[in-house]
This record gives sequence, C-alpha cells and structure tokens, in this order.
Amino acid sequence: MSEEFANNPTASDLGSFCGIGVGPGMPGLIPVVAWQFVQEADIILLPRAKSAKRSVARNCLPPHQIPEDRFRDFEFAMESDRTLLAEHYSRQADEIGQEICAGKKVAYLTIGDPLTYSTYIYILRALKERFPEILCRTYPGVTSYSALAAATGFALGEGKERVLISPCPDARLELRRLIEAHDVVVLLKIGERLPMVLRLLSEMEIGDQCVFGAHVGTESEILRFGTSEMNGANTSGQLSTMLIRRKPVESRQMVTATADIQDSGESELA
Ligand SMILES: C[S@@+](CC[C@H](N)C(=O)[O-])C[C@H]1O[C@@H](n2cnc3c(N)ncnc32)[C@H](O)[C@@H]1O
Repeated sequence: MSEEFANNPTASDLGSFCGIGVGPGMPGLIPVVAWQFVQEADIILLPRAKSAKRSVARNCLPPHQIPEDRFRDFEFAMESDRTLLAEHYSRQADEIGQEICAGKKVAYLTIGDPLTYSTYIYILRALKERFPEILCRTYPGVTSYSALAAATGFALGEGKERVLISPCPDARLELRRLIEAHDVVVLLKIGERLPMVLRLLSEMEIGDQCVFGAHVGTESEILRFGTSEMNGANTSGQLSTMLIRRKPVESRQMVTATADIQDSGESELA
C-alpha cells in the first residue's frame, strides 16, 4: 500500500467498491440493485482493450443520463509476462483503492458475469490484498453462454447431464476428448480456432446439435443453428461462444426418462 495510506481511514470514511456484470450484449441486462449502485457511483470504470473504440460494457447500460465525467476508461492488461501482469493489476488496484479511501463509490463494469473468465477477478484479488479494509461487493451478471442459450432456446443442462464450460483448446484432439467426456460443452474464446472447431464437429457428425453465437445481444449479433448454417458463411470466431451437444436431444431424453424412473427417490424441484 502506498505511503499516503499509512494512516488508515476509519470505515465510515471509506467509499465502496462494486463489480457489476452487464450485458453481455443487450442494453439493460443488469440487475436492479446493481443499476442503483451505478447511478449513485462517483466513478464508473469501463474496462476496454487498447484497440477498442468504445467499451462494450458502456453500450450495455440502460439508456439513461449519467453525467459523462463519472465514466473512466480502464485499459486491459495485454502483457503475457505474469510478473508484468501482476504489477499492472497491483497498480490499477492502488488507483482504485486510493479513490475508495478518499470516500468515493466505485463501480467496475464487466461483460457478462464478473467472476467468469474476467479480468475483474485479478483486480478484485489485488484490491483485497492491498486494501483489506475495503468492503468489496460483486453483483453477478448474465454469462455469454446463458445469453446464447436464451437467444437460441438451447437447454444448457437437463436431468443429470454433465456440462463443461471451457475456453476453446488449441488442439483438435483435446477438444474431441472434452466433448466425448461431457453431454454439453460450452466453448468460449474461440477466435481463430473456429475453422478447427467446425472441422471437428463435422468429423464427429454432431454439427447439427450445436449452436453458435457471436456478439450476442448486440446490433451485430450472429446466431447459427447447426454448423451447416455456418459453412461458407463469413463468420469469424471473434467474441463468439458455441454450445455443443454430444447426443441428439431425442435419444438423450429417452435415456434421462428411463434413469428418472429407476431413480424415483429424487425429484427435480429446480
Ligand atoms: C473474457 S471472456 C468473458 C466471459 C464473460 N465474463 C461471461 O460471463 O461470459 C470473453 C469470452 O466471452 C464470450 N462472450 C462475451 N460476450 C459475448 C457475446 N456478446 N456474444 C458471444 N460470446 C461472448 C466469448 O467467448 C469471449 O471470447
């Protein structure tokens, strides 16, 4: 912690910190309590890649007049060196911590759920380490795969299905193993690996049981039902998610129904 914080402020002097999931694409997809915090916040941090013109998170806020000077761009760390990354997060945590110790309410917006594959995780960790006196709250958001499931009517898990959430592996064999070991695979961070994924799904003859979504919820949304819809289409893997089902729904439903009859001691309430 820096020297000016040697004299710790009392709890009542402290502001507060809140990580908030918005979108992931659709404007207005934000919990009501989180929206209340955003409206009251002195500083609203908008994480943004260096290359991005405008924060995606900002576009996901409901149309509402929040004074412009409350928004602050917050650049993603792009270093691959772990030591440099740690230093970067520590510096950012220091900046945020100093504002909170000065009594400010700080909101940190993330795309989707803040604790699902998000840089927020590192910021939160660094902030808690360096300023243990600050109370941090996280409001969950709608994950990209929940948004895609909702947009396509794809059931993420039925009965006793095993669902895996994974960043897309580089190797085709590794992805094949993941698919073979689960009923549903949620594939994030596909990027330039999309052609490899499409080739594998076609090789496994399960392309029709998959859905693909890029920029889900935004004006540039792309939704594809089955990989045959994607062949030849100019679809990049950028900001995209795929939901992969190993067996067709019909055969799985029969298996599940049989298992449910055999396992009559447990009922499904959720
Ligand atoms: C850094 S992770 C962030 C995950 C996010 N926190 C969540 O809850 O889903 C980025 C990945 O999320 C997925 N993603 C985020 N926004 C998306 C969107 N609007 N449409 C499709 N996929 C999206 C993509 O797989 C992307 O590569």
